[in-house]
Amino acid sequence: MIEFRSVTKQFPDGTRAVDSLSLVIPSRKTTVLVGSSGSGKTTILRMINRMVDPTSGVVEIDGDDIAGKEPVKLRRGIGYVMQNSGLLPHRKVIDNIATVLYLTGVARGRARGRALELMDTVGLDRAFADRYPSQLSGGQQQRVGVARGLAVDPNILLMDEPFGAVDPIVRSELQQELLRLQRELGKTVVFVTHDIDEAFLLGDQIAILKTGGEIAQLGTPTEILSNPADDFVSSFVGTDRGARALHLAPGRFGNLVIDGTGRPAGILVNESPTEGPSWPGQTRGPSTDGR
Ligand SMILES: Nc1ncnc2c1ncn2[C@@H]1O[C@H](COP(=O)(O)OP(=O)(O)OP(=O)(O)O)[C@@H](O)[C@H]1O
Ligand SMILES: [Mg+2]
Repeated sequence: MIEFRSVTKQFPDGTRAVDSLSLVIPSRKTTVLVGSSGSGKTTILRMINRMVDPTSGVVEIDGDDIAGKEPVKLRRGIGYVMQNSGLLPHRKVIDNIATVLYLTGVARGRARGRALELMDTVGLDRAFADRYPSQLSGGQQQRVGVARGLAVDPNILLMDEPFGAVDPIVRSELQQELLRLQRELGKTVVFVTHDIDEAFLLGDQIAILKTGGEIAQLGTPTEILSNPADDFVSSFVGTDRGARALHLAPGRFGNLVIDGTGRPAGILVNESPTEGPSWPGQTRGPSTDGR
């Protein structure tokens, strides 16, 4: 479990990126931080692996204040997938994935073997191992980024808009892969996005953020959809927009999500602790009549 207790981050220029944030992130589930640009998502994420240290307040992992942990050691237990994959352009795919392993002293042969296994895990053909990142498609590069994040077999995986830079079809594929991986691996995933549909698809728990990392609402997709906390959440979720006007109706296999045109847009099945909600349909459909 990761816990933020009254955490504030003020940068030297006076910007308060995060102001008195308190948040509990449960283990072995996916928590999604969703909010518009500048709401403090990346800052919150980086305070978990000490790439950013809070100005005040405490961040704990399993009850231990991380301020007392050596950042390099701390990061060995935490995978980090950066936006735009953050790959090293002059290193081959296999070495990009194995870099952290080399750094932690794993023998070269073993590290490369592990990197190949990770390519299987994220659905990348091993034939790409000796290519350079620029010789891969955007989606393939994102997979390398995820494999690299998983390399140290971390309990915690931080993902900062990892699927931002790819087209909708590849994005959807990557999302499904992550859901599959999460079912198999059961990591504590903290996933940042500004896309509410992605948040609903992937999150067991979703925190909708306003400026300054203020939590507008924290809950499961069903809770947020069925009971938006305020106008900000409603407009963010799209419940007040004709094009989406999402609401829930009970269905045979779970809660049906109905869009503004009255069509079922998806199903929220089984919001159990281990299995995230499934969201097979598109939530964004062409709106004809609005509301
Ligand atoms: N090193 C820094 N120095 C000063 N201000 C910063 C620094 N890093 C971030 N900020 C500011 O803190 C606020 C939050 O930034 P952050 O990067 O956490 O937002 P974000 O929600 O991740 O945004 P985006 O969706 O655009 O990535 C912004 O106003 C940003 O300008
Ligand atoms: Mg960011």
